[in-house]
Amino acid sequence: CNASLASSNGFLQCLSAAIPEQLLYTQSSPSFSSVLVSSIQNPKFFTPSTVRPLVIITPTNASHVQATVVCGRQNDVRIRVRSGGHDYEGLSYRSKRPEVFAVVDLATLRSVSVDQKAATAWVDSGTTIGELYYAISKASILLAFPAGLCPTTGVGGHFSGGGLGMLLRKYGAAIDNVLDATLVDAKGRLLDKQTMGTDVFWAIRGGAGQSFGIVLSWKVKLVPVPPRVTMFSIPKSVNEGAINILTKWQEVAPALPEDLFIMAIIKKQVAKFQSMYLGTCDALLLLMGTRFPELGLNKTHCKEMTWIQSVPYIYLGNTATVEDILNRTTSMNSFSKATSDYVRQAIPKDTWVQIFTWLAKPEAGIMIMDPYGGKMSSYPESATPFPHRGGVLYNIQYMNFWSAATDGSARTKWLKDFYTFMAPYVSQNPREAYVNYRDLDLGENVVVGNVTSYQAGQVWGQKYYRGNFQRLAMAKGEVDPDDYFRNEQSIPPLVASK
Ligand code: FDA
Repeated sequence: CNASLASSNGFLQCLSAAIPEQLLYTQSSPSFSSVLVSSIQNPKFFTPSTVRPLVIITPTNASHVQATVVCGRQNDVRIRVRSGGHDYEGLSYRSKRPEVFAVVDLATLRSVSVDQKAATAWVDSGTTIGELYYAISKASILLAFPAGLCPTTGVGGHFSGGGLGMLLRKYGAAIDNVLDATLVDAKGRLLDKQTMGTDVFWAIRGGAGQSFGIVLSWKVKLVPVPPRVTMFSIPKSVNEGAINILTKWQEVAPALPEDLFIMAIIKKQVAKFQSMYLGTCDALLLLMGTRFPELGLNKTHCKEMTWIQSVPYIYLGNTATVEDILNRTTSMNSFSKATSDYVRQAIPKDTWVQIFTWLAKPEAGIMIMDPYGGKMSSYPESATPFPHRGGVLYNIQYMNFWSAATDGSARTKWLKDFYTFMAPYVSQNPREAYVNYRDLDLGENVVVGNVTSYQAGQVWGQKYYRGNFQRLAMAKGEVDPDDYFRNEQSIPPLVASK
């Protein structure tokens, strides 16, 4: 309509006055598609019917981000922000409903500065976690950071929602190690921990991206690691006792010493136990011999390496080099759908038998399970918005994949049906989920009178945040009462009545 055309034109003029032309990509720019696709992970959100941005802004400093917010508000054009583009629902670069919006793509804001003496670092949101890990290892191989496994994941979205990886039992989630941050708010102000205030600083560490403003950078606490860590990967098929071992794993893995993390990945009829131990193979053999002999770990399974070598090893395979974790290129050949659960009571053995029947179906996906306990459980539920703490045994991620040759409906249906089957065996009231494994099937926002409804938000919000949802909504009410920053699953503003 004319009104939105006028606001779009006004927005583009406003941007051009504040930001160098070469940092703006409108839909008619020759590079628009290549910039848009540059970090898209899931091709299902890059189709002719995908609602695309009016313009992509690629800021090189904070003032460009501030100007974009000011121009957006003046002209009634909303913004989505993208760091690494890994959002499972593509919310950083597409809108599910028809809407005029712009994308602020932070991929060029990616400096990391490590203070080795203080064991801290400032990292820009557009950095990938692979780049962060690499920069830390260049300063010292005895320092690390506890965050996710996939090197191309962006710091901006990942830290906003939690950030979980193999160091979680020893050092918690990425958000547990954030000391400060800079944020551009809905008024275009550049704030830090002091000026954004306690509630907003609490909210951006787990309250998920896009609700409170645009986080430009994070100051993090680095953590010590030994000169060598020990990795192992042991597959066990159902015929080799996978069901008994998994049944035991549920209770053992979350209770092991914090230095040992053993995740389980189930595909078809095989459970693979993948592990990192912050110590030597000899010490690990002793520990496993007493705590988890059923897995049958022996010396030939052990691979000792530096912590930074473990990053490509675990995610890219044993021929990958440390430099490979700097590669930002994404392949975009796998369509996928995911969702998640939390388990607080071990699943009985006969249910595992049924689970393996589900996983044997031709259209089946996989289950990835991360044990908690240790440092993860040491924080009270309200320490950060991420509420899955004491009492959680492990997290399940269900994923299914398909190629362009099929429409994915059978695989999506399998995921949905299996999720329904799992209901009695996982956390309840609310059935918890991890916000970084975003799933719009858990619920979507409803906008009433130009503001996101708190009631509708509660449906998905309690799953991701349990009792922290209300405090998140109050923080949103403080920093963005007009609900400028919103998407299909952003935090609704609750404004305290005066
Ligand atoms: P993206 O740029 O898509 O942003 C995600 C969300 O955050 C969007 O809503 C976006 O608007 C918002 N956002 C982004 N930057 C922001 C900023 N600077 N300020 C405010 N809001 C911002 N998770 C995990 O914990 N451990 C793991 O090991 C993995 N592994 C993994 C592998 C693969 C292949 C994928 C696709 C995903 C994961 N994840 C994960 C999940 C991942 O943590 C999650 O998708 C993150 O939100 C991705 O952050 P990006 O910056 O890449 O995404």
